[in-house]
Amino acid sequence: MKEVDRIHFGSPLEESRQGEVLDMQAPEEHIKEERRKLYIESYGCQMNFSDSEIVASILMDQGFETIGDYKEADVVFVNTCSIRENAEQRVRNRLKEFEAAKQRKPGMIIGVLGCMAERLKARFLEEEKLVDLVVGPDAYRDLPNLIQQVDDGSRAVNVLLSREETYADISPVRLNSNGVSAFISIMRGCDNMCSFCVVPFTRGRERSRDPESIVKEAQDLYNAGYREVTLLGQNVDSYKFKCNEGTRTVNFAQLLEKVALVHPDLRVRFSTSHPKDITNEVLYAIAKYENICKYIHLPVQSGNSRVLELMNRTYDREWYLERVDAIRRIIPDCGISTDIITGFCSETVEEHEDTLSIMDHVKYDFAYMFAYSERPGTLAAKRYEDDVPEEEKKRRLTEVVNKQREHSLYRLENFVGKVHKVLIEGFSKRSDEDYCGRNDQNTMMVFPVDERFKVGQYVNVLAETCTSATLIGRIVD
Ligand code: SAH
Ligand code: SF4
Ligand code: F3S
Repeated sequence: MKEVDRIHFGSPLEESRQGEVLDMQAPEEHIKEERRKLYIESYGCQMNFSDSEIVASILMDQGFETIGDYKEADVVFVNTCSIRENAEQRVRNRLKEFEAAKQRKPGMIIGVLGCMAERLKARFLEEEKLVDLVVGPDAYRDLPNLIQQVDDGSRAVNVLLSREETYADISPVRLNSNGVSAFISIMRGCDNMCSFCVVPFTRGRERSRDPESIVKEAQDLYNAGYREVTLLGQNVDSYKFKCNEGTRTVNFAQLLEKVALVHPDLRVRFSTSHPKDITNEVLYAIAKYENICKYIHLPVQSGNSRVLELMNRTYDREWYLERVDAIRRIIPDCGISTDIITGFCSETVEEHEDTLSIMDHVKYDFAYMFAYSERPGTLAAKRYEDDVPEEEKKRRLTEVVNKQREHSLYRLENFVGKVHKVLIEGFSKRSDEDYCGRNDQNTMMVFPVDERFKVGQYVNVLAETCTSATLIGRIVD
């Protein structure tokens, strides 16, 4: 049976980005004969994809160009994820292919960036003999220097975490972009210490980026023709930046408003919201601005309060449901999605059923669902036994997946017959005769091309029918 670890209904964009090749050619006039060729492949969350754009920017300033075929590259980077064991396994398999390419092209530099680099540090160089560089997420400014060290014949490691680094002054090179949607990192790291999670160890302490630099990036993107930005952080609701020498603090609700005010035609999305921190002030900001999308990713992880406590999520079932009620009250049409873990340490069948029942209550628009994977060094690995058998974790996962399939369909069917405002993101994957784009609630819609409307414009689309994850419709005036 096919291994089912990470399933997501409803956002083909996110799914298609797994292991995506980031490729953008430099402007013609700057191309010099001796430009070194960089290939970057990214895994994991949107933050990692956003970081690859920072890495590309740093190296393009050093005269690199990015290419789409690793076999031709002088430098091959893989920006890695440690969130579950199979995420790491995928990277290791891919490294074997890069190492084979290196044997055919001596002098090729192979670098491991991101969360796996941070987790394994110099051990990576012992385990993978052909890797030259190991660089953690806060050390990308050091890349030119580290590449120089490799050019001089050594292997190089920098996995220092920082309390300040936000790369605020670096303009990301938009890689593989549709020219319409872009990510903006608003903060880095995480201070939450959920017991299952490796992120606080791989990404370090939480820090927020200067709001002025965020607003400027959004404005620059708008001026360049972009029409949608997604503000990224592991826990956006704890965004906090002290301005005016500490006399004034900008919180997430205020930041959202600032970005929404850049232009009414610039859609604003954000991810991820933590149930313990999402405030009514944020919900009112979403309700107030037409261009802040009515869609919240609110990971529940489990529907059982004892399991939530073991997970150190610091909310319980009642708190979560109260937050969902507040969303429904303040933003009646809001889309809600979630993350769920099945088979966490000591979870009983009854406790798993609480997860099924909370799903029934909320009826999520879509969900990312995972079987628990113990990560070395986390609180759960130290404190609790990973005692739910793999088979049972998978069985529970299948139940959760099947339930979500019903709920996704329920939500989609409710959208059918209604008119949705859609930002045209590009042509559909299947046909150049169809456009695709998402509605406010983040549901993908596909509809026939109408020559009067171009990519990057808003159109009203009547949803006429749906598949399991997509609405099918046509443009109406
Ligand atoms: N910061 C986000 C989540 C980042 S990780 C948040 O707090 O919601 C994305 C998702 O991966 C998590 O929400 C969780 O559902 C899942 N995940 C994290 N660690 C995991 C583990 N050890 N095993 C299985 N799933 C895990
Ligand atoms: Fe991990 Fe929890 Fe932080 Fe999310 S909030 S990144 S799950 S520790
Ligand atoms: Fe993975 Fe690191 Fe993101 S572990 S999910 S790439 S923060």
